[in-house]
Amino acid sequence: MTDLHSSLDRHIEDLLDVPSFPPPAAFVRQAVVTDDGVFDAAADAEEWWSEQARTRIDWATPFRTGCNDSNPPFFTWFEDGTLNASYNCLDRHVEAGRGDRVAFHWHGEEGEQRTITYAELLADVQRLANALRERGVRKGDVVGIYLPMIPEVVVAMLACARIGAPHTVVFGGFAPSSVAERLEVSNAVALITVDGARRKGRTTPTKAAVDDAIADLSDLHTVVVVRATGVTCPMTDGRDVFYDAALAAADPVCPADPMPAEHPLFLLYSSGSTAKPKGIVHTTGGYLTGVATTHSLVFDLKPDTDVFWCTADVGWITGHSYIVYGPLANGATSVMFEGAPDYPDKDIWWELIERYGVTIFYTAPTAIRACMKWGSEYPARHDLSSLRLLGTVGEPINPKAWVWYHTVIGGGRCPIVDTWWQTETGAIMISTLPGLQPAKPGSAGLPLPGVRAALLTPSGEDAGDDPGYLVLTAPWPAMLRTLHGDDQRYVETYFSTFGPRTYVVGDSARRDRDGYISIIGRIDDVINVSGHRLSTAEVESALVSHAAVAEAAAIGVHDELTGQAIVAFVTLRAGVESSAELEATLREHVAQRIGKLARPQRMIFVADLPKTRSGKIMRRLIRDVAEGRELGDVTTLGDPTVMAALQAQVVRP
Ligand code: WTA
Repeated sequence: MTDLHSSLDRHIEDLLDVPSFPPPAAFVRQAVVTDDGVFDAAADAEEWWSEQARTRIDWATPFRTGCNDSNPPFFTWFEDGTLNASYNCLDRHVEAGRGDRVAFHWHGEEGEQRTITYAELLADVQRLANALRERGVRKGDVVGIYLPMIPEVVVAMLACARIGAPHTVVFGGFAPSSVAERLEVSNAVALITVDGARRKGRTTPTKAAVDDAIADLSDLHTVVVVRATGVTCPMTDGRDVFYDAALAAADPVCPADPMPAEHPLFLLYSSGSTAKPKGIVHTTGGYLTGVATTHSLVFDLKPDTDVFWCTADVGWITGHSYIVYGPLANGATSVMFEGAPDYPDKDIWWELIERYGVTIFYTAPTAIRACMKWGSEYPARHDLSSLRLLGTVGEPINPKAWVWYHTVIGGGRCPIVDTWWQTETGAIMISTLPGLQPAKPGSAGLPLPGVRAALLTPSGEDAGDDPGYLVLTAPWPAMLRTLHGDDQRYVETYFSTFGPRTYVVGDSARRDRDGYISIIGRIDDVINVSGHRLSTAEVESALVSHAAVAEAAAIGVHDELTGQAIVAFVTLRAGVESSAELEATLREHVAQRIGKLARPQRMIFVADLPKTRSGKIMRRLIRDVAEGRELGDVTTLGDPTVMAALQAQVVRP
């Protein structure tokens, strides 16, 4: 055993020197794209995307306009066409005789299994759509969804899509107050939630916890509660209804209502540089075109034979695009797993790959690093030979984790696609095409067909070999259309640096001689913890809302496992003493206000924070201190003595 392990370790060490991994011949033989003619075909990006929209999506009214770019940065796609997203994800497959195809192999925390076919999904979606309508949910009304990874979350999203009610899914890890905030700013009229959610053998009473937070929302007239765990939950007469009762009482037939292509399909709140989350708006026709196209090309999808598994939570964009809309639009079979990767044991993912014959597996670098730390003996317990393609998303992957993934999970035979994209882009933008282009560990790859990317200096010149701002220079169908209720913030956030036709991503990156793009990191105050986006301002505002705290500065520091970790520098109000208990209290306070995912890993109590003369906290200096670097420029500090005091207080972990 030890011999085996050390030879595996040696093999991994050797592969670290390999700069590029060409697609294996066996993979190329069966691949969807093997010819770079695809890039020629996309020379006219608008025509390319229009062709994808015509061939991959069913339209109730065909569109004649591709991209309308007459009012940048407010671009539209296929604006004179109409379609229904749930029709494209369900009805058309059932009508084509594929109703018995499995949409999801659902696997519960305690090992329960549910097989959900396209026909079954369609039946539930129609009933829930009718139930929502009967309760007064109209086209254009926003519906909140706060559900764990259970099949009902897919039904909920598609039922909303069916009646043109944009959904806003809130990740189950967010605290009730964050849910309420998102429902309030989106004027949601309904919420679909659950009695309780399970996590590693424990059940938390979701509905009871969220009830207080939503009590004062004046627009919210309906709450649908899925009975998933049987924990008792309070129900408000006239507002709340159980999901099963609502479905049983509803008319089973609800024809899919065609929507204009630009009708909003969903809002998804994401962290930006201020404490206020951004309501990213995606529309129907362009988004669906983007996710269906990329799900097929990047994942080399064969819908008749593949079993696809994206381990993201549905509450993030990755779950929206590659658990729900992309795979279902393409008529694929997916695995959906309720639980955590280490429960009941650290081999559960590999057990599920074997059990369901997963062929394409898509996860995040943090998860890969965790699995690598747990050890190769867990995957070794299972037969992973069904796998033929692996993917990663959410953060840069370090070459060591890449090579481990390639060797231990992929058995050396599976290409890896490192997919770069964002909540805002809706769909994958930069990746290799796995049957055509070699993969380079640590580099996402090339802009996909129809995608135009550039790296710019701050003054807008080409960055050449140097790191630069990553920008997207042509509109694409799955792009966000605006920020909910805030066109101005949309323009300022993404299009104020280089003008209304150059979308500023917020990442820095560099490009090699072959044009491969490697992401370096965020250039704004967004922290990426385990591939989850958080803003420093959100964490700070949660901290200062506690009576003991005077000021707070949160920063992201490098972390071996999670990519980045949150460290918070805190000054206390006069008369308050720092203590380990206070630190624990404040961490819990952040968990209560935002969610556990935002809890600072370390809290450092300081007498003063470094500020400019105008009073702006100098985060850059704090980061230097926290990461033990030489201090950068301190000449703009209001009080230069603060830094010495600060450094004296910070003991490196
Ligand atoms: C980062 C997740 C490196 C990046 C789909 C981006 C990545 C942010 C990659 C978006 C990747 C995403 N390599 N970094 N392959 N994919 N990122 O909105 O900083 O949650 O801007 O969307 O994650 O995060 P979001």
